[in-house]
Amino acid sequence: MSAPRGEFSSRFGFLMAASGSAVGLGNIWGFPTNTASNGGAAFLFTYIVLAFAIAYPALMAELIIGRHAKANAVTALRGLARGPLTRALGGMVGYAGMITVSLILSFYAIVSGWMLAMTMASLANLLQFDAAADWLATGSVVRDAIFTLGFMLMTLWVVTAGVSNGIEKWASRLMPSLFIILVCLIIYVFTLDGAMEGLRMYLVPDFSRMLEPGLVVSAMGQAFFSLSLGVGTMLIYGSYINRRENLPALGRMVTLLDISVAVTAGLLILPAMTVALNLGVPIYDEQGGLIAGPGLIISVLPALFDQIGLAGILVSLAFFILMTIASLTSSISMLEVPLAYVVENYNTSRRRVGTWLTLGITAISLLIVFNFDTLFDLVVSLTTEYSQPLLGFFFAIFAGWIWHRNGILQEIRQGSENVEHTMFWRIWPVYVKFVVPVAILAIYLQTLLG
Ligand code: PFF
Repeated sequence: MSAPRGEFSSRFGFLMAASGSAVGLGNIWGFPTNTASNGGAAFLFTYIVLAFAIAYPALMAELIIGRHAKANAVTALRGLARGPLTRALGGMVGYAGMITVSLILSFYAIVSGWMLAMTMASLANLLQFDAAADWLATGSVVRDAIFTLGFMLMTLWVVTAGVSNGIEKWASRLMPSLFIILVCLIIYVFTLDGAMEGLRMYLVPDFSRMLEPGLVVSAMGQAFFSLSLGVGTMLIYGSYINRRENLPALGRMVTLLDISVAVTAGLLILPAMTVALNLGVPIYDEQGGLIAGPGLIISVLPALFDQIGLAGILVSLAFFILMTIASLTSSISMLEVPLAYVVENYNTSRRRVGTWLTLGITAISLLIVFNFDTLFDLVVSLTTEYSQPLLGFFFAIFAGWIWHRNGILQEIRQGSENVEHTMFWRIWPVYVKFVVPVAILAIYLQTLLG
C-alpha cells in the first residue's frame, strides 16, 4: 500500500475545509438568485427546512460512512456490502460519484476561471492598464481557456500538498478571509441608494408559492449542490476526521455555516441588484425574469461597479477575490475525490495522480469552452439535477439499509459521549432509512417528469 492516509489536524481545520467545500458559487450566486426568482423568503424558508431535514441527514450518512471506512468512496461502500450484489452496487455508486464530481469540476473550473479573470481585470483597472483590463473583462474562448487552466493549476497546487498541509492549511486561511470580505461588502452596499428595495425583494415572502413543486425541487437541488452531496466529497473529508471527534456536531456546524453564508450572500447580491437597477443597469431579461446565473455575475455586477468610480474598482476587486476563494475551497474538495481513490489503490504519489487528473479534467473543460452553447448547460444539468440526487439516494440506502445497524450506531458513538440521549440518535437512523430516500426519490421523479 501507499503512504499513510492524511488526517485533518484540528476540528477547526476540518470545519474550514468542509464548509469551504460547501460554500461556493452555489451559495454566493446560485442561492440568492434562486431565491429572488422563486418568491423571495418563501424559497428561503423552504430551503432552510429542506437543508436541515433532508440534506443534513444525507451529509451525516457520508461523513459517518467515510470515517468508519477511512477510505475512498469505492472502498468504503464496498466494505459495507452484505454480498456480491451490494458490493457491485457499492463500486458502481463510488465510480459514478467520481465521474460526476470530475464533470462538476470541469464546468466549475470554467466559471471559476471567469472569477479569476475578473479579479485580474479589477487589478489591471486599479493600475490603469486599460487595454489589459478590457481584454480580461471581455469573455473570449482564449481568455476562458487560459484562466480555466490557471484555476485548475491553483487547485492542483493546493491538493498536491496533502490533506493537512494543503487542503486544511489553505481552507483555514481562506475561509475566514471570505467571511470578512463578505461582511465588508454587505456593509458597503447598504450605504448605496436602492439597497432597501433588494432587501424587500429578498425577505418579503410570497407564501402562495411555498408549496409549488417547482420551488421545492429547486430548493432541494440547491441544498444538495450546496452541501456537496452525493459524489463522495463529504465522504472523503469524513474519512480524514479522527475518531475522537463528535460527528453529529461537526455535521451540524458545516450545515449551519453553509446556510449562513448563503443567507448572508443574499444580503449582498439582491441589494446590489436593486442598486444597479437604480443606476440604470438592466437587471431583468427579455422574459421579465431576473438576470440570474453567469449573466448576473459577469454583466450586471460589473456594470454596477463601473458606475461607482474608484470605490467600484476596489469593491469589484474584493468581490471577485471573494468568488475566487469560494470556488477554490470547493474545487480542491472535488479534485480530492478521484485523487484519493487512485492514490489509495495504486501505489503512486499525489503529485503524479493530481497532474494526470488535472490534465484530463481541464481537457473536458476545454471541450466545453469550445462548444459552450451545446455543452455547458447539458453538463450542469446532467450532473447536478440528475446524478447528484440519485447518488445521494444510494448513499442513504447504504447507510440506512445495507450497513448493519449496530455498525453504524457504533461509529456514531465514537467521539460523541452521551449521544444516546440526543435527538440525533433517536431520529437520524429512521430518517436516513425512510425519510431521506423517499424525499429524494419524490423530488427526483418530479424533475424527471417536469
Ligand atoms: N458546494 C459547492 C457550491 O455550493 O458551490 C459545489 C460543490 C462542491 C458541489 C463540491 C459538489 C462537490 F463535490
